[in-house]
Amino acid sequence: GSRPLRVACIGAGYVGGPTMAVIASKTSPDAVQIQVLDISEERIAAWNSDRLPLYEPGLTELVFGSRGRNLHFSTAIEDGIKWADLIFVAVNTPTKECGIGAGSAADLTYVELAARQIAAAADTPKIVVEKSTVPIRTAEALGAILEACGRTSFEILSNPEFLAEGTAVRDLCEPDRVLIGGNLETDSGRRAVETLTELYAHWVPRERILATNVWSSELSKLVANAFLAQRVSSINSISALCELSGAEIDEVARAVGLDARIGPHFLKCSVGFGGSCFQKDILNLVYLCESFGLNTVADYWRSVIAINDWQKQRFTARILHGLYNTATNKKIAILGFAFKKDTGDTRESAAIDVCGNLLQECAKLSIYDPKVPAEQIWTDLTRRCRRTRDELAHYVTLAESAEEAAMNSHAIVILTEWDEFRTLDYAKVYKGMCRPAFLFDGRSICDMKALSQIGFVCYAIGSPVDSRIRLR
Ligand code: NAI
Repeated sequence: GSRPLRVACIGAGYVGGPTMAVIASKTSPDAVQIQVLDISEERIAAWNSDRLPLYEPGLTELVFGSRGRNLHFSTAIEDGIKWADLIFVAVNTPTKECGIGAGSAADLTYVELAARQIAAAADTPKIVVEKSTVPIRTAEALGAILEACGRTSFEILSNPEFLAEGTAVRDLCEPDRVLIGGNLETDSGRRAVETLTELYAHWVPRERILATNVWSSELSKLVANAFLAQRVSSINSISALCELSGAEIDEVARAVGLDARIGPHFLKCSVGFGGSCFQKDILNLVYLCESFGLNTVADYWRSVIAINDWQKQRFTARILHGLYNTATNKKIAILGFAFKKDTGDTRESAAIDVCGNLLQECAKLSIYDPKVPAEQIWTDLTRRCRRTRDELAHYVTLAESAEEAAMNSHAIVILTEWDEFRTLDYAKVYKGMCRPAFLFDGRSICDMKALSQIGFVCYAIGSPVDSRIRLR
């Protein structure tokens, strides 16, 4: 009789947790057993509790349905490695903060540590699957470490993850494609690719599972994120032109997106993209290009980040000019702090920069986000402003609702596109605000006409600018 395939995942974060929960929910306990492993006791305890460590629509139900059945969370990394047939590596790969490539290259410390843990513990052959986003040729380095330090044979695959936070469960259940990079030249390489293909084939149609060579797979992930971010920067660059010329960005985006060659997705203008991946992965690509001497290519991709930074600056400048060039001691309601709706994640959120800029102007911020934990907001702002929490507490308060945040404020600033900000009772909110009451919509989600009728002085990214807030 055959026993279940034993799957381990090193890293129980935004990728490891949801990915393993979906695999567990799509397979039966006698076909697949899964151990999700992490060095963080706190994270694993949260995965084993009633309150998961991260918010993702639909995730709680999935985890509760599989936990203890075929999905297990543990800090016993060594045992998990020994036990497994197939090991996903889904650890974090942040941008390097110092040394060669600081500010752009990927920090592979955690990936290498995971490889060394695998090498030290493994005593039977393993398939090691690189799930983390890594620079091209990292699998090769992984393989070299495993070979030099291990006692058994290893087959390395690259299987980058394309899920987006906020829609992770849906993206994992119905992926556009699954990419598996492996050594297709050897029998054992092909067998490893087939094992991983079969795991996904439990719910993904086979024609959506692509086998490529390892380097194509690694590079494809960086390129996919670079293209997505480039679309955001492209539409954002045009949003600035719309504001001055009388065109409406949403109308332009719709007209352009109906061209089948361009397509409608990722053409929504905003205060700027955030999230742990886009900037990091583009910088990674830039670093790769530079290291091969492709400086013109590197400059091209770097400009995507330059537009994004400029968009955040530009938005802050609009707020300041609107408020008669002084925000000092004015209460400003910040609606939304997460980098996008339906997640509690704030990594690289545009809100951190915009709030940081406003705090430099000595504004008083009242911040509300439905999912971001209070502690996280304090951590992000103290780090960004290089001030202590006590110092900041004079300028920052956290509100329990959008209405509370807006009470007695001079301006509302929308930084995340949460659905509840579309449907807020703005007429009621308006009554509690100082006059003139300003609204700066960084996600272009509100009905500007209706808000103007209520009495707000409005600014929405990409819409013609009210003469009262036009830059002078
Ligand atoms: P994360 O920071 O949420 O999770 C990483 C986890 O790995 C942490 O819990 C950490 O404690 C653990 N860890 C680090 N080293 C370890 C070790 N040696 N042994 C055991 N556990 C260890 O990171 P996230 O967001 O899940 O990202 C992971 C990778 O996936 C990154 O390379 C990222 O670029 C990539 N990715 C992320 C996406 C996202 O939306 N967050 C989407 C697609 C890819």
